[in-house]
Amino acid sequence: MARVLSRFVCQTCGSVAQRWQGRCEDCGEWNTYVEEGAPSGIGAKAAAGAPRGRIFALEGLTGSQAEAPRIRSGIAELDRVTGGGFVPGSVILIGGEPGIGKSTLLIQACAALAAQKRRVVYISGEEAVAQVRLRAERLALSKAPVELAAETSVEDILATLQEGVAPALLVIDSIQTMWTARADAAPGTVTQVRASAQALIRYAKTTGSCVILVGHVTKDGQIAGPRVVEHMVDAVASFEGDGGHQFRILRAVKNRFGPTDEIGVFEMTGAGLSEVRNPSALFLSGRDASSPGTAVFAGMEGTRPLLVEIQALVSPTSLGTPRRAVVGWDPSRLAMVLAVLEAHGGLRLGQHDVYLNVAGGLRIQEPAADLAVAAALISSLTGAQLPAETVYFGEIGLSGAVRPVVHAGARLKEAAKLGFARAVIPAPAESGGSDSGPATESCGHIAVLVADIAQRSSRNEGRQRQRPAPVRQESANV
Ligand code: TYD
Ligand code: MG
Repeated sequence: MARVLSRFVCQTCGSVAQRWQGRCEDCGEWNTYVEEGAPSGIGAKAAAGAPRGRIFALEGLTGSQAEAPRIRSGIAELDRVTGGGFVPGSVILIGGEPGIGKSTLLIQACAALAAQKRRVVYISGEEAVAQVRLRAERLALSKAPVELAAETSVEDILATLQEGVAPALLVIDSIQTMWTARADAAPGTVTQVRASAQALIRYAKTTGSCVILVGHVTKDGQIAGPRVVEHMVDAVASFEGDGGHQFRILRAVKNRFGPTDEIGVFEMTGAGLSEVRNPSALFLSGRDASSPGTAVFAGMEGTRPLLVEIQALVSPTSLGTPRRAVVGWDPSRLAMVLAVLEAHGGLRLGQHDVYLNVAGGLRIQEPAADLAVAAALISSLTGAQLPAETVYFGEIGLSGAVRPVVHAGARLKEAAKLGFARAVIPAPAESGGSDSGPATESCGHIAVLVADIAQRSSRNEGRQRQRPAPVRQESANV
């Protein structure tokens, strides 16, 4: 059989083809195939007469297995995302756009661990040692006993680490810059990244060091090229944020040793990342409660309740097809809420542009935001401002019914903590509220919400007669 000397590997999804193709059939990306040497993989070795396998003992599911020990960094927001600290022998991939603050966060974590007299090694494949030192100086961490190097060869790194005790924490910044002689491909390719990650994972498993890999993310939010790495590591966290805002969110996407969907909130300051202990207060700061179109959503991020402001702008359109633009929420979810408002709430939105924004640059994934979104939309359409001290949560079904959501108690408690006196929530199924919480008002159907806000709108209009002409008169639509 003729031997295949090279193959083509898609740099986005890792799919392999024997011939070059313009478009990857698996992921649909264009121009992503790169020629690489054929691997001397399992087949080749087997042919050469591989040694017989070692015999190992099989075990049952029961057995004494202590809870994984953890190393707390002392940075509470980071520990929350890792599920209570770094697990020795685990590998964490931290993804994020360039400049978001990954290196800053990790050097801070390194310094925190080093301060606990643990060995910490930080390998930078992107910046020179001097640059890393400069950053540490800026963060007032230059005294921390972190061991630094600017290296990209995985073999060199592992050989160096063989000396002395294995570090408690090894940071590789970034995995895309690493290369290993074991893979026959150019640095930066999927094959190289995968092979380098494999070698580092093996190192973590054999020595018990916790290894953090930094991964760059492409514009559409995927960890560039080496998405394959996501499957190999124990935990994946993404570091998100918006250039225009100073806060950053570390979100657990996958975690074999802890909960996912947990978030840590940080603020980028002149002296590095500082923890945000009360994110709701941050996301609600600067809120303009007096204008129509804003509603406060009592959401959950992992186990943590989080209040955010939802802003809607509904305005008559001059286009044949009205615009629908969403920042921070799922556009198809918005389309659904709009359809339900039309079908069951009696609103006419076909001649209106709709813009929806989650204030502060946060991204919400919960369907529980439906009710708050609907309230903001109705408020903007009718020009009636919602009561300032009210929070909303609830999932809207296609029938217009408002369905209960989980963690109602925690949401109400957070609302009470921030001084909200009233909560509009789904039908009473799960009351959850304590006596000290905000007064709850159950809303079982979207039509109830529409009627309630419309009432407010007519009351407002009476009051606003003496003011300059109101901007909007669409309340007749309701
Ligand atoms: P960095 O950690 O280098 O980002 P990444 O490793 O994700 O590419 O962070 C770079 C940005 O953070 C840069 O735009 C400057 C800003 N920054 C601060 O605002 N304050 C600071 O104390 C530091 C160290 C960085
Ligand atoms: Mg960096």
